[in-house]
Amino acid sequence: MATAHPRVHREVVSFVRRSSRMNASQQKAWREQSDRVIRVPARDTDTSVAADAEIDWPDAFGRPAPLVVEIGGGTGDVISTVAAKHPDLNYLAFEVFEPAVASTLSKCARAGVNNVRVVVANGVDALGTLVPDGSLTELWTFFPDPWHKKRHHKRRLVSRPFADLVAAKLSDGGVWRLATDWADYALAMREVLDDHPALVNRYDGWAPRWEDRPRSRYEAKGIAAGRTIYDLCYGIREGGRR
Ligand SMILES: C[S@@+](CC[C@H](N)C(=O)[O-])C[C@H]1O[C@@H](n2cnc3c(N)ncnc32)[C@H](O)[C@@H]1O
Repeated sequence: MATAHPRVHREVVSFVRRSSRMNASQQKAWREQSDRVIRVPARDTDTSVAADAEIDWPDAFGRPAPLVVEIGGGTGDVISTVAAKHPDLNYLAFEVFEPAVASTLSKCARAGVNNVRVVVANGVDALGTLVPDGSLTELWTFFPDPWHKKRHHKRRLVSRPFADLVAAKLSDGGVWRLATDWADYALAMREVLDDHPALVNRYDGWAPRWEDRPRSRYEAKGIAAGRTIYDLCYGIREGGRR
């Protein structure tokens, strides 16, 4: 007789598993910059984060400083550039795709930055578990996967539950910066975030392009395809969290 196994609950995530094969320069960066990768215990899948995982960020960065997190930064175009401009801040990337993390490490090394650390994990899990409430200076979600099909919209990163999480993690003066090249996703983001009781749209509409943000790989793709780029920027509403 077959043994009854408990049904495995498959979590809906905003990414797909891809081959983690790296090219030679990614392998080199992965080897040489591995001290920038912060290892965290997993819960079940290898991109998950154990509920009791804890990281001492001042220790991981070698100093206390205001913390900026990017989720899904891909090959690190933005974080490597902005971290070089602001050496006084600590920058943390949560990215699931290892070859992209290796490219991020390589760009950071070329830019000579010492203030970037990376965790290879689902950024939703990592933000929830590893970042203390009310502690984030900035959170960035630039060009998240658009998940076009209606039946896949539940996989979109920017959603009401995710906005609840970001609102809990931002400091009172903290800022959430977003950008996308997909008009329907941009409108869906506005709908969720403009309505959120703890968030306030800093521009009462679309945000101007953030002058620090360099053009990323995916932004370049969107522009080459003739799409409009939408920037959004939210802060914490005074009294909105209570
Ligand atoms: C469309 S790409 C955009 C990359 C980059 N922001 C850019 O503009 O070039 C989305 C990235 O988000 C990553 N990603 C998607 N969901 C994620 C999650 N929950 N946690 C961490 N990374 C995620 C993917 O692996 C991919 O690298």
